[in-house]
Amino acid sequence: MKASFLFIPILMILSCTTKKATESSASANDPHSFARPSEAVAKHLDLDIKVEFESQQISGKAVWTIENKTAAKEIIFDDSQLNIQKITLGPEEKETTFELGKEVEFLGKPLHVAIAPDTKQINIYYSTGKGASALQWLQPQQTAGKKHPYLFTQSQAIAARSWVPCQDSPGIRFTYNARVTVPKELLALMSAENPQAKNSTGVYEFKQVHPIPSYLLALAVGDITFKAVDGRTGVYAEPSVLDKAVYEFADMGKMVTAAEKLYGPYRWGRYDLLVLPPSFPFGGMENPNLTFITPTIIAGDRSLVSIICHELAHSWSGNLVTNATWNDFWLNEGFTNYFERRIDEEIFGKQEAEMQEVFAKQALEETVKDMGATSKDTHLKTDYTNRSPDEGTNDIAYEKGYFFLRAIEEAVGREKFDAFLRNHFDGHAFQSLSTEDFLKDLDQNLIKGDKVLEEKIKVNDWVYGPGIPTNLVAVGSARFKAIDALLADWKKTGVAKGLAKQLSSNNERKYFISGLPAGLSAAQMQVLDAEFNFTGSHNTDIQKAWYVLAIRHGYKAADPQIKNYLLTNGRMWHIIPVYKAYMASPEGAKLAREIYKIARPNYHPMTYQAIDELLK
Ligand code: BES
Ligand code: ZN
Repeated sequence: MKASFLFIPILMILSCTTKKATESSASANDPHSFARPSEAVAKHLDLDIKVEFESQQISGKAVWTIENKTAAKEIIFDDSQLNIQKITLGPEEKETTFELGKEVEFLGKPLHVAIAPDTKQINIYYSTGKGASALQWLQPQQTAGKKHPYLFTQSQAIAARSWVPCQDSPGIRFTYNARVTVPKELLALMSAENPQAKNSTGVYEFKQVHPIPSYLLALAVGDITFKAVDGRTGVYAEPSVLDKAVYEFADMGKMVTAAEKLYGPYRWGRYDLLVLPPSFPFGGMENPNLTFITPTIIAGDRSLVSIICHELAHSWSGNLVTNATWNDFWLNEGFTNYFERRIDEEIFGKQEAEMQEVFAKQALEETVKDMGATSKDTHLKTDYTNRSPDEGTNDIAYEKGYFFLRAIEEAVGREKFDAFLRNHFDGHAFQSLSTEDFLKDLDQNLIKGDKVLEEKIKVNDWVYGPGIPTNLVAVGSARFKAIDALLADWKKTGVAKGLAKQLSSNNERKYFISGLPAGLSAAQMQVLDAEFNFTGSHNTDIQKAWYVLAIRHGYKAADPQIKNYLLTNGRMWHIIPVYKAYMASPEGAKLAREIYKIARPNYHPMTYQAIDELLK
């Protein structure tokens, strides 16, 4: 049924009433959601959906248990391209009216549903639209096994609304149960307690007993098998990828133990990984219980596994204590980078953590340079109103956020800071926090009115000021110092022979590449490549860094490998810089467009939307 015109007067009355101030930051104004949780808020989801590969549609019923706090006459959900067939109220399924509001750029539409003061249950019958931005439907040939289709979701930041009608704000949390029907030869997995093997019915049931925000709703369907790593960790992957993945991620149990030792118990039950097909648009995504990761980090030598430390850390920073809005995104990613490097330090030692920190500083400086040192977007507290929150996914949140926490650690000492963080996670478990909530907490529990300490940390400069504050901690790695000397030698002599055996890790190789001077000739690139074979590296961090240089310096011998890289890797932040480098010259742009024409059908909607923009 379409929305009835009878609904319009109700909406008109509603828009005349003044909105009550929100009672807690968990329902603070979120510019990226239409929901008004201080009036009527969703608390629990019972999802019953069917996944159909022929029509590339998810369809079914989302049953929301709600709390109508103000006897409101409507509840508002977020919607992006959903087909809403019918909405009913209560277990008796009494049909109600609804209306989709005007489309707003980046956000989709508000779905207004008429409710009564005592309404507790809303049943939404719907199916997904053709362009659902969270969904990637893969043909069999796009998977490792080439026999079965595959579907996966990516809900962060605001794409959950394209596959489930929901109040799509990180300030709103709900528990969920789901029943998912899929083709019998496939397994379904969610961000919840998961099955470990296929059954004969193709119907799978899930339970997420902890309240989560909508961006952590996740689903994957494919020819997926499971292997345990230890008692509470394990890996899901397509059969041909599974053993390689289990080898690569053998340390994941240790990582959970190290994380717990730092900031308290892992509260979610199992911690498993799902290795996706290569079109997965991120390195990793911290879906509760089941981190989604790109297969491109399976380098064969365990050199890229700190991504797992990162996604695992989100089980505290992000999933347990969540940014209230995407303008507080640094609370998710800055904390997680800090936590990630602490786990790195536990497992791989201080040297590794120091190296990561050097890269972090490089990345931050580059980002500030790109954005402009006075840009407001370089504040930790951002304002992406009327823009996509995805624009805020940059190294301000990740690395400026990280260095802010390092500045606090430096000022109070690690012991005190750890105790503070431990309390922070315990005291706000399953809550969403704004930047201001955090600062209040920091003041009450750590700074405690100590003016000297406050001045030392420079809280305001970090959070509400641009660029990089003056108290950025000193970073450095002894190994990297030695490489500086090698680089200086090489610059003098031009002799590359013998250098490769002096660099013993991918971190060192990556650092070496980052220290190469601007303006190298193609011939110099050739000499380096003959020594290191960077072009043929299987480490995507090295590939990304080297390929950007190769393009910049006209080192054409790398083009075939670059093409292969762009055709087989859908990780957005690893391929966008490469396309960008090509776009800097007309000749490069032509090549980029040729490659993209072939690559695009394999990319996730989020990836191709970003690259379409870049290449247009
Ligand atoms: N949650 C992010 C990925 C994300 C951010 C998805 C914003 C959508 C919008 C995830 O935890 C992440 O940061 N992934 C990084 C890992 C890296 C920093 C170790 C990635 O994918 O590269
Ligand atoms: Zn992250």
